[in-house]
Formats: sequence, structure tokens, C-alpha cells
Amino acid sequence: MSLKKINPSKTIAWKKLKQHFLTIEKSHLKKLFNEDINRKNKFSILFNDFLVDYSNNRLNQETIDLLIDLANEVDLQDAINKYFEGTKINETENRAVLHTALRTQSNAPIYVDGIDIIPDVKKAFLKMEKFSNEVISGKWKGYTDKKITDIVNIGIGGSDLGPNMVVDALKFYKNHLNIHFVSNIDGDHVQEIINKLNPETTLFVIVSKSFTTQETITNAHTIRKWFVEKANKKAIEKHFVAVSTNIEKVADFGIHKNNIFPIWNWVGGRFSLWSTVGLTISLAVGFTNFKQLLEGASEMDVHFKNTSFDKNIPVLLALISIWYTNFFESETEVVIPYSQYLNTFTTYLQQAVMESNGKSVDRNGDKIDYQTGAIVWGSIGTNAQHAFMQLIHQGTKIIPADFIGFKEPLYDIQEHHKKLMANFYGQIQALAEGKTKEEVHLDLKFHGNMNKIEKLLPYKIFEGNKPSNTILINKLTPRNLGSLIAMYEHKIFVQGIIWNIYSFDQFGVELGKELAHNIYAKS
Ligand code: F6P
Repeated sequence: MSLKKINPSKTIAWKKLKQHFLTIEKSHLKKLFNEDINRKNKFSILFNDFLVDYSNNRLNQETIDLLIDLANEVDLQDAINKYFEGTKINETENRAVLHTALRTQSNAPIYVDGIDIIPDVKKAFLKMEKFSNEVISGKWKGYTDKKITDIVNIGIGGSDLGPNMVVDALKFYKNHLNIHFVSNIDGDHVQEIINKLNPETTLFVIVSKSFTTQETITNAHTIRKWFVEKANKKAIEKHFVAVSTNIEKVADFGIHKNNIFPIWNWVGGRFSLWSTVGLTISLAVGFTNFKQLLEGASEMDVHFKNTSFDKNIPVLLALISIWYTNFFESETEVVIPYSQYLNTFTTYLQQAVMESNGKSVDRNGDKIDYQTGAIVWGSIGTNAQHAFMQLIHQGTKIIPADFIGFKEPLYDIQEHHKKLMANFYGQIQALAEGKTKEEVHLDLKFHGNMNKIEKLLPYKIFEGNKPSNTILINKLTPRNLGSLIAMYEHKIFVQGIIWNIYSFDQFGVELGKELAHNIYAKS
């Protein structure tokens, strides 16, 4: 049973949304709040440690109802069921999309090609847990009988960005191991990392689903050469492990079969941090924290799968994003986490969102004539405020924003946290409300700038009416991080279904790779 292939722009809801857009386009957020004193409550959802407030968006109840009609007209629920059941919804690659199976807390079987995949997942996690425990405790020794001190994750794309982001995000929960990431094929970077390493105490984790990716294999060979020169070939088995589906190629590389962690074709690269691709995460923060990350994701999965669309966080976020992309014609979305720990979160999201939904041919094979995949970008607050926020406040573009904040800091430095969160709320309010001509006038007058009023007034006006979502989470824990990542994964899924595209292939990355191979061969 394949996915339905409905052109969203031909639905009744889409047409109604076009009409409805004309009435909303001119409404200011301030007016929408004035019209409904209950707006904030009405457009907020509580889920575990999350409060998702979408009231600062340019929409009303009718907008939400019509967007849900759109989801129903393309039969989103049917697609959600197929996604979780393991139907091969990645039709162009003939694969199921089952990263949710990696984190399920239920013991129910999930079948791919008639075989229950859950026992293999459990087996792989047991191996990962045992290995992580041995390395962390020092039981696993290097070739000179010393404990491991440094881990180097060699991978790129999904085999780098997810683990890298999570290791950064969970730094507070980290153990003594030093973690390094090598992804780019830039030899200077590889050398910079090597310069810091002692071969006797370093463990290399080569992560590549295919084990053919040029960057990863080149980097792995360079590192292996350096290692063998410093140590010896036999020592490889104590210092190199691999995560891959391609057992043959891993063996050719010289990695011992006991050091191979399996992954499966039903896990997409950019959704793979939940699998053995997360080995570096488990080494950095311990398997117990890794498990909690999975549990948090699973809680979001259950919410997404079972909650009606009007209270369903990923569904609503996806629909709101479609509202801006396809009706307001916004091109980009900014994500601003107010936490230094989430410094690489938007970089991670860029692959997840843009490699998934940057498509222009629909599920019928036809060229699409509406917009798909938003461009995602961003940085952490408050750095963003001193960099690009000017354009969002006073520029000509509509850039919907996601503000991600935490109620509690991890270290008890309350003064900083109060200031950080004051900025978080200050930005959201400034974007929504703006500052009127009258307010600017009064302000200039109050500050004794009467003589400058005429000249400065237009530049000091903030139109406001700039949309945002507020994602407020109690605390940055492994569990909450898992839920947050899963929330965005499902948002991506919903958008792909509604846009009638295949979100789980990535043929767009192939041409450049091929050409680079040809150019290199001739060089
Ligand atoms: O960028 C293309 C891509 O295939 C990604 O989807 C994937 O995450 C990355 O390359 C790495 O692939 P592999 O894990 O097979 O080395």
C-alpha cells in the first residue's frame, strides 16, 4: 500500500485558504490578540515538559480549521499510520522509514519484509551499551594497555550532524572522554584533529551507512595510515570500530567483525542518530542518557501518532509553516534556541529539513508548481540579536521564527538565566507588537529629542506583526532533547506528505558527487 498522491493545491481547503489569506493578510497580531482575550491559551499546547505557544502567528481559528481540512483532504492520518507501521513510504528507494522503531517503548513487533525488526534493534543496543560501558569505565584498553581518553567520530551528513549536535547539546551530562568530529574532506582539518591525538588512547568510530561516502572513506584512510605508522596493523582492532550496513566494505577496511555495529536500510541517514550511529553519543554521555534521549523521542512519537490534529504539536507546526510558505510566500524560517548548548541545532536541522523537503517533483512524478521546503537557518540567542535580528525586525521579508527556551538553566546561575530569558521574551514581544509612530514620538519626546523627531521617527518605527512560535521547555535534559528533535522530524514528515513529495530520498546530492569524482579522476 503506497502513500496517497494528492496535489494539495487542487484541494478545496487550499482554495479556501487562498481566499481566507486575503482577510488575514492585513490583520495585525495586536488586533488578533485584542479580538480574543483567550488567544494565548487557545493557541498553546502543553506536552510533558513542553509548552508550545503558537499564538504569535498570523492566523485565527478559521485558519487552523482550514489547515486541518487540508491535512484531512490529503489523508495525513493514513500516511502517519503507514509511517509507523513500516510501509515502504520511501517509494523511490523502496524502503520503510522506521527511525521511530528505534525508540519505541512498546514490545509490539514491527515488520519489514515480513521480519520483526525489534529483536535485531535490541541486540544492537545491547552491544552498544556493553561497548560504551567498557570504554567509559576503562575496561576497554588500547594496544599499549592504556585506557581510552579520546573518541573521534568520522562521518558526514547524518553520520555526523546528529551525533555532533547531541553531544554538544548534552555537554552538561558528559563524562571524561574527549570527543572529536571529523567530517569535511578538508585535510587541514583532519590534520588539526590528528595533531591533538595520542594513538595509544584514541578510539575511532567510523560512521557510514554506505561505507562508500568519499569524505568519510578518505578521512578514515588518512587516519588509519597515521595510526598504523604510529602503532601497528594489529592494533587497529582495539582502536577502530564502524557503524555501517556495508559489512563487506568495513571488513575490507580492516575492521574486526566484532567491532561492527549494524544499522539498517530502513533508517535514513538524517534520522539515524537514534540508531548505532548514536554510538559516539552513547560514549560521550553514557548509554543511560542515550536511552533517555530515545524515550523522549518516543513520547513525542506517541503524541504525534495519537493526538487529534488540533492539539498535535508537529502537525500544527507543519501546517503553520505551510501557511507561511505557500500563502504568505515566505522563503525562510529562522530557529533561535536560547541556549549555548544548542549552538549546532540549526545546522543539524538544515540537513533534516532541506535534504528531506527540498524537492520539486511530486509523488506522481509531476513537476510541482507550488513552493516546498523552507530554507532553515538561525543561531543561538542572544548572539542572533547582535547579528541578524535587525533584518527580521525591520527588513522587508516575513521570516517566521521558532524561539526555543528553557525555564531552568543547568547551572544555578540565575542572574544570567533571568537576563537570557528576558531577551527571549523581549524578542518575541517586539516581533509581534512592534512600536508605533505614536510610541516612537512619545519616546523621543521623553528623552528630550524633540529636535530630532522629524528626522529619526520613520527609522525607529517597528511594524511588528512578525510571526513566531514559542517552544518553552522546563530544562535541557536528554529526554526533552529527544522530544524536541522528534518534534521537528515529524514536522518535516507532515510537510512532505502535504506537499505530495518524497521526503526520504536525496537524489539532489548525487550529481555534484558524481562530477567531483570525474573531476578528481582527471586531476
Ligand atoms: O548527503 C547525502 C548523504 O547520503 C546523507 O543523506 C547521509 O547522511 C550522508 O550522505 C552520509 O552517508 P553515509 O552514512 O552513507 O556515509
